This record gives sequence, structure tokens and C-alpha cells, in this order.
Amino acid sequence: MAAIRGLFYGAAIATRHLNDPAFVAALLQECGMIVSEWEAQWAALEPVRGKPDYTALDRLVEFAASNGLLFRGHSGIWYKRVPDWFGAINDRAEAERLMLEHVQAKFSRYRGRVQSWDVLNEAVDLRSGRPDGLRREVLLDKFGPGYIDLLFHAARAADPQALLCYNDYGVEYDTPWHAGRREAILALLRGCRSRGVPVDVFGIQAHLRIGARFNADIWARWLDEVAGLGIKLMITEIDVTDAAAPGDIAERDRQVAAEYERFLAPTLKNPALIGMLAWGLSDRYSWIVRGTEPYHKRPDGLPPRPLPLDADLKRKPAWQAMADAVIAVPKR
Ligand code: XIL
Repeated sequence: MAAIRGLFYGAAIATRHLNDPAFVAALLQECGMIVSEWEAQWAALEPVRGKPDYTALDRLVEFAASNGLLFRGHSGIWYKRVPDWFGAINDRAEAERLMLEHVQAKFSRYRGRVQSWDVLNEAVDLRSGRPDGLRREVLLDKFGPGYIDLLFHAARAADPQALLCYNDYGVEYDTPWHAGRREAILALLRGCRSRGVPVDVFGIQAHLRIGARFNADIWARWLDEVAGLGIKLMITEIDVTDAAAPGDIAERDRQVAAEYERFLAPTLKNPALIGMLAWGLSDRYSWIVRGTEPYHKRPDGLPPRPLPLDADLKRKPAWQAMADAVIAVPKR
């Protein structure tokens, strides 16, 4: 569907979902691309130092290749998913060598078969109180902000064809918290461009929720600023938390669809936007339905309905909202 507008569309999956034939059939019908939900994270690949195991990720990449799907890697480095043993290394030079070796090994292994990589995930958190807004996390602690440049350069060298993304959340809504994050992320991206650091794409996670304030003009202006740096845009993890919507399914699905719609209309309109991926295809497999974060849970305890297909793999109003939003944009 998205392909007719020159966009790609896909979803996050895990290797074990490939054992579900009905799900795979729906995936092949709906998607032109997949992204690894967790199996490309460093902690998943190398829980024990020196014993990396790429079996599960190989299977995902093979599945994509043999079914004509694009593959997107998530992620190069994410502070939440670096192995525990890495955190325990005190020698800075050794830690830097191991981090860069990991990125080099992971990115070169799939060279030529990856459409894009999230090189770095979620490096901004203004609670740090730092002027640059960078999050206080294991990598910043060990290396200072210079690690960002090292990562992107290592990624480019290891896979010159993949689009290299900086991926983050909490940018779309109209609150002071989101505004602060927009400013810090824009500054991060601008800094990268001015230093010649190869960031090709800003990945908008787009974990949306019912009940938040949204201002399409403010959002569209910010996207223009990012695009003005020569950076492409991709929606990388879209879904909608429905905890604030009523239990009634028809009404809830309508509200979820409306949330997709109001976000997608101004976002897809930006000519720098190249595609979108949902964080799961069906409510059968979703981190929101699993209740990974406390705010995912509905007060009435009903299962959330965040994704375009329901748990029976049937298209919901959210699917229609996505399709309508895609149809409404001019062909790229
Ligand atoms: C979530 C996954 O869906 C979970 O399975 C995992 O255990 C935790 O992370 N931003 C990201 C994703 O970049 O990696 C997160 O995915 C969702 C938030």
C-alpha cells in the first residue's frame, strides 16, 4: 500500500513470531520491511563476553531476504541494552575498543542487506541537567559525548550502504517536556552535521498515546528544521497507548485510529519522510499489550489495542487511518 506513494511500510518482529504461520502470512501481506524488535541489541547478541551468538538475528535477516522484504537493524547501541559485562569495564580504552568492535562486527556481518540501522538509540534525556541535554548513561559516563561521533563513523565504515539513523522518542506532542527534547535533539543532529558525522536519518519512534496535546503546526515546523539539515525522516516505532480511552472496543478503536491520523497527516506530508514502521503488526504481539511499561496498562485491566491489526490479525480502524494517511500524500 505505502509503496504506491514511494514510501516503505513495515513492522517490528522477533524470530519466534516466525513460528506463527497465520502471523507470517499477515506480515507478508502487509509489510515491505521488518525491523528486529530486540534481537539486534548488543545485550541480546553477546550476553557473555567474547561469545556472541547471531543465530536469531541471522534468521530474521534471512527471512527478510528470502521474502523480498527490506531489513532494518535496531539498534547499534542503546544504553538500556548494553551487556552487563560491558558496564563493568573500567579501562576506558578497552571499553571503547570493545564497543567499536561490536558495532564493526554487527554492521559488517549484514553489509549490503540492511536498509537502515539505528546506530544510536535514545541518547537524550534533559533530566541530566546537562546543557547539551544528553542522558547520563553508561556510554556517556565512560566516554563523554565524543562516543556519538565514533559510533557513527564506525557504522559508516562497516556498512557504507545502510542509512544511518539517530532514533529517539518524546518529540511529537505539545508540552514543555516534548519541546525541550525537540530542542536538544535538533541541536544534537545539527552538531553531527556540522562535524561531518554521518547521520542520514532521524528516526521518530512515535510511541503515541490517547489524551496528549498535539499541535500540528509546531510539529511540522520542527520536522522542517530537521529536514533543513539535510537529514531524512523515518517513523520507526509507531503505536498508540490506549490507557486513557474508554473500554468499549468500537469507541476505543475510533480514538486510536484518530490518534494515528492526526499524527500521520502532518508527518507524512514532509517530503523528507521516507517510510514508517509500526512497533509490531498485530495486537497479538506488542510490548504495550505485554505491559512492558507501567503506563501501558489500562486502569480497567482490558487488553490494549495499539496496532493496525487486532489479535486475530484483522484490520482495525487504525489500519484504515494509516492507509488513508498514505494515500493522501503526493508520490515521492
Ligand atoms: C521494547 C521492546 O518492544 C521490548 O520487547 C523490549 O524488551 C524493550 O524495548 N524504544 C525502543 C525499543 O527503541 O527498543 C523499545 O522496545 C520500545 C521503546
